[in-house]
Amino acid sequence: MDETLRIYWELYNEIFSNELMIHKSHNLLRNFEEEFIDGPILELGCGQSNFLVEFSKTGKEIFAVDNEEFQLNLLKKRIESYAGKDAGKLRLLNITIPEKEIPQEVFSLVIASDFLHFFSINECKNIISQIIARTQKGSLIFVRVHSQSHSYSNSPDPELHKYFKHFFTETDLMELFDEKYFDRMIFSNTVQNIRSKFTREMEIKWTEKILDEYQIFDPQERQEQFEEANKELNIGYLECIYRRK
Ligand SMILES: C[S@@+](CC[C@H](N)C(=O)[O-])C[C@H]1O[C@@H](n2cnc3c(N)ncnc32)[C@H](O)[C@@H]1O
Repeated sequence: MDETLRIYWELYNEIFSNELMIHKSHNLLRNFEEEFIDGPILELGCGQSNFLVEFSKTGKEIFAVDNEEFQLNLLKKRIESYAGKDAGKLRLLNITIPEKEIPQEVFSLVIASDFLHFFSINECKNIISQIIARTQKGSLIFVRVHSQSHSYSNSPDPELHKYFKHFFTETDLMELFDEKYFDRMIFSNTVQNIRSKFTREMEIKWTEKILDEYQIFDPQERQEQFEEANKELNIGYLECIYRRK
């Protein structure tokens, strides 16, 4: 992981207690909690997942997949302090998708939040075929991806497009989540044009930590970086919940 991202996730861990993280997170799955069938929960690219922390109190077994050990360790601490003895078995899997296969279980819920946009459409097809093989009738699948309304979608920077490989349309999701296997329960298309004060302040703190880490102390250069961090961009994302047929 890029050093600046590591700084971000450490700051995230510092600022967001479990309660604050859950309070500030948009969780569409909460609407369907009563419909979770029996079986473990899987999250791909879980980071310090607000979903896994919130649902750890259900006592369900959790498979948390990420390819950053430090994120998995922070998630473990979060779940232990949030659910305590109510937590089910927690399996932390340091796996790079799609090089390594998704664990061979039948999951009640699969979460891919801010994850599929790191892959090409063909890689997404491979990941979704594995999800199909590891879910059953009634399993839920939550997906959140950057949309083409995201400002980054039109960026001329090739490095950015190596990192975020695909910006999705509703049609992409309809093709990926074939109605032969999935019922779409909810679809949401959001564009945030102006960040909240809370997010803006967090991003300023992030910039400050990066500048300190890289020992950039020249006041003018720091000022330019803060101005850059203060610029608004459109955060466009699609969210869906599917139910396996
Ligand atoms: C943007 S964060 C999303 C975290 C969490 N799902 C959420 O919505 O808050 C993406 C996470 O995916 C992990 N990740 C990125 N590429 C991965 C890959 N190929 N395999 C497994 N994990 C990956 C990163 O380490 C990071 O923790």
